[in-house]
Parts: sequence; C-alpha cells; structure tokens
Amino acid sequence: MLARKLSTKGDTLYLERRVGLFSGVALIVGTMIGSGIFVSPTGLLIRTGSIGLSFIIWAACGAMSLLGALAYAELGTMNPSSGAEYAYLMDAFGPMPAFLFSWISTLILKPSQVAIICLSFAKYAVEAFVDECGSSDYVVKIVAVLSILIITYINCYSVNLATGVQNAFTAAKLVAVFVVVAGGVYKIIQGRTEHFRNYFENTTTSMGDVATAFYSGLWAYDGWNNLNYVTEEIKNPSKNIPKAIYISIPLVTMCYLLVNVAYLTIMSPDEIVRNEAVAVTFGIRALGSIAWVIPLSITISTFGSANGTLFAAGRLCFAASREGHLMHVLSYIHIKKLTPMPSIIFHSIITIVMVASGTINSLIDFFSFTAWIFYGSAMLALLVMRYTRPDVPRPYKVPIIIPLTIFVISLYLVVAPIIDKPQIEYLYSVIFMIAGMIFYVPFVRLGYKFRIIDRWTVIIQLLLQVAPTKLVLP
Ligand code: ARG
Repeated sequence: MLARKLSTKGDTLYLERRVGLFSGVALIVGTMIGSGIFVSPTGLLIRTGSIGLSFIIWAACGAMSLLGALAYAELGTMNPSSGAEYAYLMDAFGPMPAFLFSWISTLILKPSQVAIICLSFAKYAVEAFVDECGSSDYVVKIVAVLSILIITYINCYSVNLATGVQNAFTAAKLVAVFVVVAGGVYKIIQGRTEHFRNYFENTTTSMGDVATAFYSGLWAYDGWNNLNYVTEEIKNPSKNIPKAIYISIPLVTMCYLLVNVAYLTIMSPDEIVRNEAVAVTFGIRALGSIAWVIPLSITISTFGSANGTLFAAGRLCFAASREGHLMHVLSYIHIKKLTPMPSIIFHSIITIVMVASGTINSLIDFFSFTAWIFYGSAMLALLVMRYTRPDVPRPYKVPIIIPLTIFVISLYLVVAPIIDKPQIEYLYSVIFMIAGMIFYVPFVRLGYKFRIIDRWTVIIQLLLQVAPTKLVLP
C-alpha cells in the first residue's frame, strides 16, 4: 500500500505524484491477486460444469478486466480527481447517482469484500491447521470473525501499523502463486496430463449459470480499476496508466490460467468441485514435505488483503460521511491515534453480520451483482460524456467499441442471474439502492437531522475519544 505524501505549494495542499510505472503495476497486481484464485476455481467449475468452459471464462474475465480498465483509463485521465466512480457518475449524471455509489460502496461493496476475503482466510487457516473433523462451517465463521476483530484493532491502533502489515504481507501471495505454478509445470513435465480431456463434457446450458460463473471469475480479477483511486498521484498519468494496465492485467490473467492448469495436473475436476480449499490439496500432493508453504502463504496473503481493504473502506466511509452522505460521527478521527475509528468499527460490524449470514459463494454473487451495476454505469458515463462533454480534453482515449462492449456485458451479468437464477441477495442489493434513494432527498439534499443522532454522536465521541476534523488523512 502506498502511503500518501502531501506537499504544499503556496497555501494549497496537494498529493505528490509519486506513483511511477512500477508502483502502478504493483498496485494493480497487489489488489487483484488476493483470495479469488485460491477459492474461485471450485465455484467456477461447479457453475460451468466443464473444464473447457471454465478456462474460457477465466480468460474472458481477464479480457473484460483489461478492456474495462482501459475505459477507466480514459475516465481517470479526463477527470483526474480521486474517488473514481463517484467522480465520473457525478460528472455524467449528477449528485444522486454519485451519492448512491458512495452509499452502496460503504454499506455493501467494501464490507462484502472484507467478508469474502476473511472467510477465505479462515477457510485456509482452518483447513491447514485444524484436522479434518474440526473444519466445519461454524469454525470457519468464528475464525473469520476473529480475523475481522484483529484487523479492526490494527486499523484503529495506527495508520503506520496498518500500512506496514499490508506491505509485509503482499509478497506472500506472489510466493503462493509462483509455487503453485512451478509445481504445476513440474507435474506437466512428468507427464501428468490425464485430467486434460473431455473438455466440454457436461457443460451447462443455463445462461444464469454462465453469468454466475463469471461472478466467481470476476471476483478473482476485481481490483483492475484500482489505479483510478490514485490518479492524482500518478506520474505522467496519460502514459503510465495505460502502460501499467497493459502489463499487469495480462500478467495476472496468465498467472490465473497457469494456476488452474496446475490444479488440474494434480486433481480431477470432480475432486476440485468437492474441495473448497483446492490449494491445500495441491500442496499436499505436489510439494510433499514443504506443503505447508501454500496454506501459510495464502493465509498471510488473504489476511494482508483483508487488512488493506478495511483500510480503504474506512477512508471511503470517512470521506462519504464528511460530505454528509452518512452520519457525521463516522467522519470523526481518534484524537491521539488519528485513525478514522468510528468508520472502521462501523464497517467491521457490517462485515461481521455478512460473515455470520453468508457463505463465500453467496457473498461473491452479492458483491459481483452490485459491483457490476456500477462498473456498467461507469461505462455508460463514458459513453454519455462523449456526447455531453465532447470538448473536455481526453489525454487517453479508447475506441468507443470498448466501453460499449463492457456495458452490454455488464447488462447481461446483472440481468441474466435475476431472470434465470434469482437469489435473495440480489433483492437485498436492490432494496439497499432504493433505501439510498429514499434517504437521499430528506437527509442529504434537504439536510434534515434526527435529534437522537446528536445524542449518539456525543456518546460515541466520549466512548471512542474521537473528534470532528478538517484534517486530510494520509
Ligand atoms: N481480486 C481480489 C481477490 O481475489 C479481491 C479484490 C477486492 N477488491 C478490491 N478493490 N480490494 O481476493
């Protein structure tokens, strides 16, 4: 994670441009590789029914992420203010959709990301360190909640500790991916290719299944738009953003395809479907005495990702509340430690509720459904602004077919599962959006306040030792 550096020019505070090409690549790769590649292969294979279609979807998700990121590069260089989707929706459609984005990100997107990553952490921690009979869903959930409490503590305790943990843990995921890929290559050299046949046998014919298989795959690729959150800090953005995208996303796609090949050298498709912690079995069968490297590095990696995601979530909620989009007390910071404690604790509570009530796959569907509504809206914003703001300089411009294609695919991804495989989670997501719209007019637009909130604010202020601030946090 990049610690932000503020500088002054006259009276104005600004963020220094410190992110070069290498850091840009590291930022994208570091966010994209997290829990997904270690948990999604099972979901994807169950949903597609065949290894042929699942490879196609893994590759297609990579291509979609690449095209989506290039379209975001146009948006990010056109409006370089941080805040990504919030800023683009504001430019193209005005304050209400922008508000809805920050509302949904704070209440659904960020907490569900943390919940999925913590559940994946717990799955691997339990699978690796507790024997077979102990690894029930119940134990996994308890371990996930414990991990949330620990990262909450870290993030409330100090900003430096949180970024330090993040930096130290990022390398672990690359080790895990590298070891799996190397193990796979070794097995192929030994001739273990017996599972690579009947590629398309049992392929699903349901469009809803294909869309939810994309959800599983796209979760592993999520984070492709991460540079847009720091555009203000990138050196020479119109060159470095597209370059970083062209390097990192194909690199991640390659890693994911190779990891899937590696799993198949060791396990049959049936075994993968029955096994939710595939990489552990891979380690045991391929690496013998050093098998422990895999679950250890995956638990470290996912813990680091969860910590980084909560860190970002806390800042988003902090900023949204300061704008008046949520309770003002959520934008207060601790008077000594200077951490946005109320917003971090608020997030952790929502995350714990999600962990308690969902499973990895249901949360992935819930997240992806909601996220792709907004990724699709960002594509629409790009298309609309080509007509409404044709003269705004666009240092980097994509062919119009790119946002158009991603927009159509995102429509399919959102609509197909509702028609073909409706799940209660999709309804929750829509209810939250409608609630956001209802909340917007009286509380944000007209600035109405409940008296009782003032009393709570005082209680929270005393309890947590937090105060309102105009400080710019690092
Ligand atoms: N792709 C990541 C994973 O597989 C999840 C990234 C979550 N998104 C984010 N912007 N932090 O775990």
